[in-house]
Amino acid sequence: MAIEHEVETTGLVGWIDRRFPMTSTWKKHVSEYYAPKNFNFWYFFGSLALLVLVNQIVTGIFLTMNYKPDATLAFSSVEYIMREVPWGWLIRYMHSTGASMFFVVVYLHMFRGLMYGSYRKPRELVWVFGCAIFLCLMAEAFFGYLLPWGQMSFWGAQVIVNLFSAIPLIGPDLSLWIRGDYVVSDVTLNRFFAFHVIAIPLVLIGLVVAHLVALHEVGSNNPDGIEIKAKKGPDGIPLDGIPFHPYYSVHDFMGVSVFLMIFAAIIFFAPEMGGYFLEANNFIPANPLQTPQEIAPVWYFTAFYAMLRATTDPFKIVLMIIIALLGLVALVRARGKWKLGLPLLAVLVIVAMAFTESKFWGVVVMGGAVISLFFLPWLDRSPVKSIRYRPFFHKVFYGIFVLAFLTLGFLGTKPPSPASTLIAQICALIYFAFFLGMPVWTRLGTFKQPPERVRFKPH
Ligand code: HEM
Repeated sequence: MAIEHEVETTGLVGWIDRRFPMTSTWKKHVSEYYAPKNFNFWYFFGSLALLVLVNQIVTGIFLTMNYKPDATLAFSSVEYIMREVPWGWLIRYMHSTGASMFFVVVYLHMFRGLMYGSYRKPRELVWVFGCAIFLCLMAEAFFGYLLPWGQMSFWGAQVIVNLFSAIPLIGPDLSLWIRGDYVVSDVTLNRFFAFHVIAIPLVLIGLVVAHLVALHEVGSNNPDGIEIKAKKGPDGIPLDGIPFHPYYSVHDFMGVSVFLMIFAAIIFFAPEMGGYFLEANNFIPANPLQTPQEIAPVWYFTAFYAMLRATTDPFKIVLMIIIALLGLVALVRARGKWKLGLPLLAVLVIVAMAFTESKFWGVVVMGGAVISLFFLPWLDRSPVKSIRYRPFFHKVFYGIFVLAFLTLGFLGTKPPSPASTLIAQICALIYFAFFLGMPVWTRLGTFKQPPERVRFKPH
C-alpha cells in the first residue's frame, strides 16, 4: 500500500498546492520520507556532499565575478582576489578547500556504500548515478585546476591531455582537438573555463537530482542491509522507518556542525594543507618554457595517477599473462555464448597489447579503475548485503583493498623509484583482483543470518 500524502486545501498553501505539488513533494521527500531508524556515522556523508556542492557553486559564482579567463591575466586575477577583493581570500580558500573536502566526503560516502552493499538490488541505479557523479567530479576538478594558471595548472593539464595522444591512430589529433592548440594555451584556458563554470556543473546537478530521485524511489539501505519496506504497519509505513524530518534533519545538522568546524579550521589555519590542497608550484605563474621538477596531481587523483605510472613495459607483459590465464579459465569454465567469446576477446586484447605502447595501457588501467566501480552491483554475488553478516575473510579483503588504494594514493604523491613502482604494481593488481574476483569470492564462506528487523539501540 502506497503512503497517502494529505495536502492543504485552504489559505495561501492551499492556493499553491492546487497549482503546484508543494506540500506533497515536501511530504514525499522530507517530512514523510521514512528512512531506516538505524543510520549511523557513515550516513552523514550524503548530506555533507550536498552541502559541499552548494558551497562550491556559491563561492564559484563569487570567484567568477573577479576572475579573468585569459592566459595573460588569470594568475594575477587570482592574486587580486586574494589581496584586493574584500573577503576574496576567504571565498577562494572556501572554494579550494571545498574541492578537496568534496573528495574526502565522496570517498567516505562511496566506502559506506561498499560496506553495506548499498549498490545491490534495488539500488543499482542509485550507485550507477553515483559513479557518474564521481566521473563528473573528477572532470570538474581537472578543468578547475587549470584556471589559476600556475605552473602545476599548466603542466598538469599538459601531461593529462598528452595522455590522449597515446590512443592509437586518433590520439595525436584528439589531444590537439581537446587543447585547441599545439600546447596548452589561452584557447585551452577559455574552453576549460566554460566546462568548469557551466557545462560540468549542469550535468553534475542533473546527476545529483537523478541520484536522489532514484534513492527515494526505492528507499535508503541501512547498516544491517535489510529492506525496511518488507515489514510495514497497517498504515503502510515501514515499522523500522522514521520520518526524515525532523529526525534526520536534526541528525544531519549535527554532522554539518562538526564538518563546518573542521572545514573552518582548515580554511583559517592550513588552507594549503602542507601542499596537499594547494601545491607550492602553483604559486608560480605558468611558464611553458620551464617544466617543474615534479609534476604531481592533487591528492584525490594520485591513486589513479600511480596506476598510470605503474604501467611500465614489464607490467604490460604481466598483464598480458594474466589476461591469457583468464582466457584459459574462461575456455574451461564458461558456458553458452561466453565459451568461445571470452577466450577470443582475451586473444584480441593480448595481440592489441603487443602492438601498442605501455603508456596507452596505463591510460586504460587508470580509466578501468574508475569504470570498474560501475559494475559493482553485478559483480557482488554475496547472499547478504551488509559487511556485518559476511564472513571474516570478506572484511580482510575489504581492508586489503582499502590499504592498496591508500598506498597507491600515497605513492602517487611521490617521485617514482624502482621499489615504489613495484609496490604500485602490486597494489594495482590487488585493486583489480578485488573487483574481477568478486563473482567468486563474495559467494564463499559462512554468512551470518541477518536479523528480521534492524538492530537499533536508542541512546
Ligand atoms: C555530489 C556528490 C554526491 C551527493 C551530493 C550525494 C548525495 C547523496 C545523499 C543525500 C544520499 C542519501 C543520504 C545518505 O545515504 O548518505 C545518498 C545516498 C547514496 N549515494 Fe550518494 N551522493 C553523491 C555521490 C555519490 C557517489 C560518487 C556514489 C557512489 C559511486 C554514491 C552512492 C550512493 C549510494 C549507494 C547511496 C544509498 C546509500 C544507502 O541507502 O545506504 N553517491 N547520496
